[in-house]
Amino acid sequence: MEIAASLLGANLLNLEEDVRLAEKWGLRIIHFDQMDGHFVPNIAFGPAFVSAIRPITRCILDVHLMLSDPLRYLDAYASAGADNITVHAEIEGDLPAVLNAIHARGIRTCVSLNPETGAEVLRPLLPYCDMVLIMLVQPGFGGQKIREDCVEKVAVVREMIEKTGRRIPIEVDGGIKRDNAERILRAGADILVMGTGLYGEPDPETVIREMKEACDAHFDRTRR
Ligand code: DX5
Ligand code: ZN
Repeated sequence: MEIAASLLGANLLNLEEDVRLAEKWGLRIIHFDQMDGHFVPNIAFGPAFVSAIRPITRCILDVHLMLSDPLRYLDAYASAGADNITVHAEIEGDLPAVLNAIHARGIRTCVSLNPETGAEVLRPLLPYCDMVLIMLVQPGFGGQKIREDCVEKVAVVREMIEKTGRRIPIEVDGGIKRDNAERILRAGADILVMGTGLYGEPDPETVIREMKEACDAHFDRTRR
């Protein structure tokens, strides 16, 4: 299990400190939400934001593009230093071509599903994906409440992936807190993206430790 720190929930007046905090907590993935005001009703933050952070961390930079036309910006995010790029299954256009274009830039690919999008949409895209991202809230804003139907979808996607025989990690994003993490992990998630569940908490280190313990206990139980 990995936790990715979502900078949308961080202190925008002191991002450097919040990136260093994530490293101190032992996290290895920094999640960047990029919004165009068209695919989602919010705007954030642009490739310059990613390139500003690239030199201060060795964490994986996980870029979540909530953009109607991601292809147009791939070069900018590639030169900004993205390690993973997520695009949404709901965009118009040729998704396999977009995913091939991401790979052609030496970047890992991921496809995300909005809450209303069914798991089946992923099936033909899996051959092009290094990872998948299941949204547990409507994309666009941090601090929302998790949708239980989306947690069920994680289990469906897990099964679909198992059948491919490939190891494709499932990332989940939105509304994840200490008290709901266990059932999300049980549904089959591998990477939990957390914004306010970390940066909005008084003691994020304890949150992370307790989540790791819950995860270890779960896998211990399933192994026995
Ligand atoms: C929402 C973003 C999330 C957001 C999660 O559109 O994709 O990454 O930062 O924030 P929390 O963890 O606060 O729900
Ligand atoms: Zn995100």
